[in-house]
Amino acid sequence: MTKKLLRIGMIGYGFMGRAHSNAYAKVNHFFDLEYRPVLTAACARNAEAVQAFADTWGYASLETDWRKLIARPDVDAIDICVPNHLHREIAVAAAAAGKAILCEKPLAMNAQEGEEMCRAVEAAGVPNMVWYNYRRVPAVTLAKRIIDSGQLGKIFHYRANFLQDWTISADVPQGGGGLWRLDVAAAGSGVTGDLLAHCIDTAIWLNGGIRDVTAMTETFVKQRKHVETGKLEPVGIDDACAFLCHFQNGSLGLFESTRYARGHKALYTFEINGEHGSLRWDLHDLHRLEFFDHRDAGALRGWRSIHVTDHGGEHPYMNHWWVPGLQIGYEHSFVHQVADFLEGYAKGQPVAPTFRDALETQKVCDAVLASANQRRWENVV
Ligand SMILES: NC(=O)c1ccc[n+]([C@@H]2O[C@H](COP(=O)([O-])OP(=O)(O)OC[C@H]3O[C@@H](n4cnc5c(N)ncnc54)[C@H](O)[C@@H]3O)[C@@H](O)[C@H]2O)c1
Repeated sequence: MTKKLLRIGMIGYGFMGRAHSNAYAKVNHFFDLEYRPVLTAACARNAEAVQAFADTWGYASLETDWRKLIARPDVDAIDICVPNHLHREIAVAAAAAGKAILCEKPLAMNAQEGEEMCRAVEAAGVPNMVWYNYRRVPAVTLAKRIIDSGQLGKIFHYRANFLQDWTISADVPQGGGGLWRLDVAAAGSGVTGDLLAHCIDTAIWLNGGIRDVTAMTETFVKQRKHVETGKLEPVGIDDACAFLCHFQNGSLGLFESTRYARGHKALYTFEINGEHGSLRWDLHDLHRLEFFDHRDAGALRGWRSIHVTDHGGEHPYMNHWWVPGLQIGYEHSFVHQVADFLEGYAKGQPVAPTFRDALETQKVCDAVLASANQRRWENVV
């Protein structure tokens, strides 16, 4: 059967521009879908750089102004892979132009912007999704299935970490290129919006909404040279953040993120403890899910390490890949997200996390930052 086409306009050619392009290229090789994404146009400001990206990944054309990309009638979907301060304006314009929108996380700089984006896509009735890709790591999706089946019983605790170590040197500048993450004007916040947003999205998905938070943040290096001005400027982002919370189901949450944990590159871990059992997951070993079931026979009771690679449907997404026992990796979470998006697109159904779903995470991030700032508990509103 000839596939229907979803013509992609990609904005940004960095880390995520590459991760998504790779997913678009692979998805129809592994998933039987009605739609095929077509790499129609890539967009960024530097024509030479975006041409090189287009050549590498097979984009048919390029634009250097995202407004021109959005105006093109031969583009069906806009993929937003640019720094956070650009998400709102691009998404609102893309919605007004009737495009489907796939937006990188965090949805926006803050919940107010996020709300405007939700209203724009909902008023326009366009398909929309946010790339919280860790939901679609098979071991994480399996955790969701186990929790939803009630096997853990009543939940008491949820804890997550996202630890890195790449900004410890005071010589790392801020702003421009890949260092926009250190510039509060482009990023909105530091580890809270960048790393904890992932932990919060997964937590809400697995364990339900968050009611209130109390947080602390720290900026260890107070001034860094700004790449664009060449001057030493104050650092406005949080280098580290830890917070406690109550979930709506009565369980307690504990979250920590930093870019100052020497030795850790991307240590994202979570653990959930219930009345009957617990689950834990570690991005560095992402194909494994650890499970403890207190109802096991006493002599056999202990943590199981499930290698989430089996076929037959019990292990999510895996029957699309190689043979049982052969694991997949980080990039595949994006392939899964594209596959699910294309399926929803074909059926006219929303695919989670939508903008509205991602707004919940944005609200928690806002409450975390406000709590750290005010040094008090904040409700998530
Ligand atoms: N889902 C994830 O796990 C994940 C991982 C990394 C980044 N992200 C998110 O993806 C987004 C991009 O991050 P990245 O790591 O790919 O950044 P990056 O610095 O690698 O790439 C950013 C791209 O944006 C382009 N750009 C900047 N300003 C532009 C403009 N005005 N018009 C057009 N293009 C412009 C740059 O040229 C570059 O190609 C951010 O929102 C980030 O939070 C998500």
